Amino acid sequence: MNIVLSGIKPTGVPTLGNYLGALKNFVKLQNEMTDYEFFMFVADMHAITIPEDPKTLRTNIKNLAAIYLASGLDKDRLTLFLQSEVHEHLELGYIMQSITYMGELERMTQYKDKVAKQVTGVTSALFTYPALMAADILLYDAKYVPVGEDQKQHLEITRDLGNRFNNRFGNTFQIPEALVTKVGAKIMDLQDPTKKMSKSGDPLDKGCIYLLEPLNIIKKKIKSAVTDSETRVYYDKEKKPGISNLMTIYSVITGLNYDEIEKKYEGKGYGDFKGDLAEIVATEIGGLQERFNAIINSKELDEILDQGRERAEILARKKMLKVYHKVGLGRF
Ligand code: AMP
Ligand code: TRP
Repeated sequence: MNIVLSGIKPTGVPTLGNYLGALKNFVKLQNEMTDYEFFMFVADMHAITIPEDPKTLRTNIKNLAAIYLASGLDKDRLTLFLQSEVHEHLELGYIMQSITYMGELERMTQYKDKVAKQVTGVTSALFTYPALMAADILLYDAKYVPVGEDQKQHLEITRDLGNRFNNRFGNTFQIPEALVTKVGAKIMDLQDPTKKMSKSGDPLDKGCIYLLEPLNIIKKKIKSAVTDSETRVYYDKEKKPGISNLMTIYSVITGLNYDEIEKKYEGKGYGDFKGDLAEIVATEIGGLQERFNAIINSKELDEILDQGRERAEILARKKMLKVYHKVGLGRF
């Protein structure tokens, strides 16, 4: 059985960007790729590469697991687990570090960006993050890895490491491919549409929509999104980044393409368009929140995570025995 695998870090409350760029796409893929097994995990080990408050982290982990399910993933065709509960991720992560060059890690843009923002206190775990991410993927012989644009470079290094291991020690890992969605791959900030919508941690941030915040606030944020001084609704990412971003959100949720949206709002102004979009987003997120509330404190969530861990452990243990043997570690 071929595997589609992906993970999200439980840092902060997930945003509309995470939902449209990652989660909604997982659901679509799960519906389309019926011959594949789906592995989704909470990348909690990755979250502590930057300082996290333990209590907040615990809440975020559980919330993210519930959000995966609330997004509409079919639990019967899903292996959902926490990275920290399957210890083989760290074992293979270390083996991956042993074949990764410093220069490769120094070139990673996500690392360089974080270093640029965080002058002191950059940890060695943040630096070696891509080796652990490669392990997350190679451990299960995942064939496809759906991710956003920003993760393409990490997928490249995963492929390099997989090939390097295979060449050095004999064929062991399937080489994965990134599945990057086109529309929705990058949702921009509502107040500054030239930068990516991301979790700043500030709930008052008007540019970012959080999946668990009250619907009336979500609507307000959409209605007060920055646009431009024209009045006609059409897509032009360069000249009209604000409206174009709102059209992307509209398109990913409704399935209408840009031309269809443009026609629908011919002769109408931004007010009508934003008003409709506010309702569309609130309905979509409202449904997610209802499902979230039903599952967050249920026994079912724990059962699903237990089953997920068990399934993941079987594959991971088998793979690690092979890896140890190939590398020459231990006695067998
Ligand atoms: P992060 O929140 O950075 O851990 O990202 C988790 C997943 O959501 C990754 O696959 C990202 O590519 C995706 N993602 C995060 N922010 C956005 C955004 N603004 N637009 C689209 N996808 C996003
Ligand atoms: N690095 C990814 C991010 O920041 C999260 C992640 C960790 C991941 N391990 C993964 C994604 C394995 C896909 C596959 O979003």
